[in-house]
Amino acid sequence: MKFDDLEVEKAYKVLAPRPAIIVTTENSEGAVNAAPFSFTMPVSTKPPMVAFASAPSHHTCKNIEKTGEFVVNMPSEAILEKLWITGEKFPYGVNEIEKAGLTQLESLKVAPPRIGECFAHIECKVHSIQEMGDHKLVVGEVVHADVSSEALKDDLLDAENVKPILHLGGVSFIVGDHLKRVE
Ligand SMILES: Cc1cc2nc3c(=O)[nH]c(=O)nc-3n(C[C@H](O)[C@H](O)[C@H](O)COP(=O)(O)O)c2cc1C
Repeated sequence: MKFDDLEVEKAYKVLAPRPAIIVTTENSEGAVNAAPFSFTMPVSTKPPMVAFASAPSHHTCKNIEKTGEFVVNMPSEAILEKLWITGEKFPYGVNEIEKAGLTQLESLKVAPPRIGECFAHIECKVHSIQEMGDHKLVVGEVVHADVSSEALKDDLLDAENVKPILHLGGVSFIVGDHLKRVE
């Protein structure tokens, strides 16, 4: 194999495709927010913890800093276009779940809602928020989780069935073994 140097600022582009999630939050007045993220990973199993990195200016990050709660919603191929709408810039306080035509379900242990069309939901209370260069690393302790009955097979995600959305970058996604671009 022949290798070319890669600008270090672009190294994250080969750490891909990454699972796309939609994070739901509320502000102090109870206004709902939703936005997609792909800088995300599990970080502990006992206690269960997950993390994602957000630009500090994002409403998601500001809401979590204020309220300490969020939900990680797992989208599948069927809602790729709607996920994209949740990523558009709306004024603070606008509910992107409504803008995208998605369904809001009450969560069991936290105030921010779940998204009905997503195949799994991970309800979190903030463990820590740490500055990480131009992002903030948000770590949440999982206080409740649920999954659609068709999404698990032999205790693993049935990815062939639920078709999770993987983000390559920008408008490009991988679903199954297909490249998809959002128009
Ligand atoms: C698929 C996808 C993945 C994204 N991943 C991230 C991410 O990991 N971190 C981040 O800060 N922004 C990410 N963004 C950008 C934010 O979702 C976008 O700026 C959004 O408007 C932020 O919304 P908010 O201000 O309501 O939180 C991503 C966008 C898309 C479409």
